[in-house]
Amino acid sequence: MGPSKSPLLGVVCLVIDSATKRPGLLHAGHVIALRSKMLKLSEFRIPRLIVPPYLRPVNCGSIGIGLVGFGTVGSGVWDILERNGGLITERTKGTVRFEIRKIAVRDPGKTRSAKAPTDLFTTDWNEVVHDPAVEVVVELIGGTDTAYDLVAAALKAGKPVVTGNKALLAERGRELFALSREHDAPIHFEAAVAGGIPIIKAVQESLIGNRIESITGIINGTSNYILMRMTDAGLDYPTALKEAKDLGYAEADETLDVNGWDAAHKAILLGTLSYGFIIDSKQVYVRGIEFVRPLDIQFAKDLGYVVKLLCIVREHKDGSIEIRTQPSFIPQSHILAAVNDVFNAIAVRGDGIGDALFYGRGAGKGPTASSVVADLVEAARLLGQRSGHRGFLPYQESGVLKPIDDTETAYYVRFPVTDRPGVVAEIATILANAGIGISGTHSPVKPDQPDAEFIDMVFLLHTSPFGELKDALKQIETLDCVTDRPVVFRIETL
Ligand SMILES: NC(=O)c1ccc[n+]([C@@H]2O[C@H](COP(=O)([O-])OP(=O)(O)OC[C@H]3O[C@@H](n4cnc5c(N)ncnc54)[C@H](OP(=O)(O)O)[C@@H]3O)[C@@H](O)[C@H]2O)c1
Repeated sequence: MGPSKSPLLGVVCLVIDSATKRPGLLHAGHVIALRSKMLKLSEFRIPRLIVPPYLRPVNCGSIGIGLVGFGTVGSGVWDILERNGGLITERTKGTVRFEIRKIAVRDPGKTRSAKAPTDLFTTDWNEVVHDPAVEVVVELIGGTDTAYDLVAAALKAGKPVVTGNKALLAERGRELFALSREHDAPIHFEAAVAGGIPIIKAVQESLIGNRIESITGIINGTSNYILMRMTDAGLDYPTALKEAKDLGYAEADETLDVNGWDAAHKAILLGTLSYGFIIDSKQVYVRGIEFVRPLDIQFAKDLGYVVKLLCIVREHKDGSIEIRTQPSFIPQSHILAAVNDVFNAIAVRGDGIGDALFYGRGAGKGPTASSVVADLVEAARLLGQRSGHRGFLPYQESGVLKPIDDTETAYYVRFPVTDRPGVVAEIATILANAGIGISGTHSPVKPDQPDAEFIDMVFLLHTSPFGELKDALKQIETLDCVTDRPVVFRIETL
């Protein structure tokens, strides 16, 4: 793909004859055949060439890519390489020229917008991973089972892997990064967090001189769209979800998007990048947007806040790491409050850089494929380098996560109540006994109907540990004036 600019002239390349397993020099016959594109590396018969990664001549012909998955993102990668492959070769001074050599899909008969030659397709990922002509494996099928098997197989074969699969790395990163280290084969995963926003490279490279104090992100576009429509158009959750689906912003199975886990997987990866240890997903606090009601959105507005599904990753002075995902109140004046539609934004605070904001499209064919292609170029550049593992590896054995009960914020709590004298006092007494201060109360009383019955009472609470609030709420739930479970949102100061 893309023009070749005399990539082989003046280069001495060592190769290994796959039949005899003996090394030899790449000779003129190979060069001419490769340059004239009469032969691909994979088509050599005598000798068939296997070039170990550290001997791989970076200037020799094209780099063989194997795609497993040719759906939204996979076909986007094809499109970008078709369109901009030549540009990449120019920008890399002729050192990187890609050729997609094999593609695995579930149904090869499917009509596809990207027109890849039919002979590239297979239904068996093994044929991609184990094809000697495939030097970099791209996993774009999603899920954590088959995806794990194929990524593990690629790493064991010493092949770098590019993936956009946050669930895979967040759930099975420990095993995969161990394989990556053992087999000296990097895993590149820019596309796994915030689609087209280059946040992985930013944290890993541009901010490497910073201690990361916090990362706060809106990193699930589907949830962000739903919350925006509930806020702006007053839609209820099911209606906003349906709209998101009709517009193609939500998957047919929207579970991971709306239950918070898609965002949490990304936060886990950002935490691992920032603090160097594998984060156990079972210890991460995650709440989704399914329980958000128009009433709470309206109260938030009245009080000067907006509801956003927020991921927080933060280092505390004692070295513990706070990591959580939940719908939170943020001030309407905060820059993240203006992140709308399916856009993502990630605010990073480092001890050198101060505050930095990364904003863009967190999903979709073009943006996500753009990140995959960037990773392909990085993988290609590293292919020619001999010493050591050049990709990301966790660099701490372990770390300490702050228990969710010890994390502190201010809170909005809505109590469904019976309107009778003493309600506010009874709730306030329990909160006071727990040492939790009240900064305000609120109920939807209409100015012209001061005696109208109210059924919800909102308390705004001063900052306190979440565990103490939970204990107080358990007691409050036993009051006969409280008719249902209290609804809690954190108020983030950011
Ligand atoms: N879509 C986005 O905006 C986005 C953004 C960031 C990250 N990601 C991540 O990127 C990955 C791919 O997402 P996507 O949206 O491109 O998914 P998709 O549109 O559903 O495509 C999945 C592709 O994988 C193929 N496939 C599934 N199981 C397979 C198997 N066992 N063997 C071989 N091929 C198989 C499918 O084949 P058929 O075509 O024959 O069905 C299809 O081509 C996921 O991990 C996702 O989380 C996606």
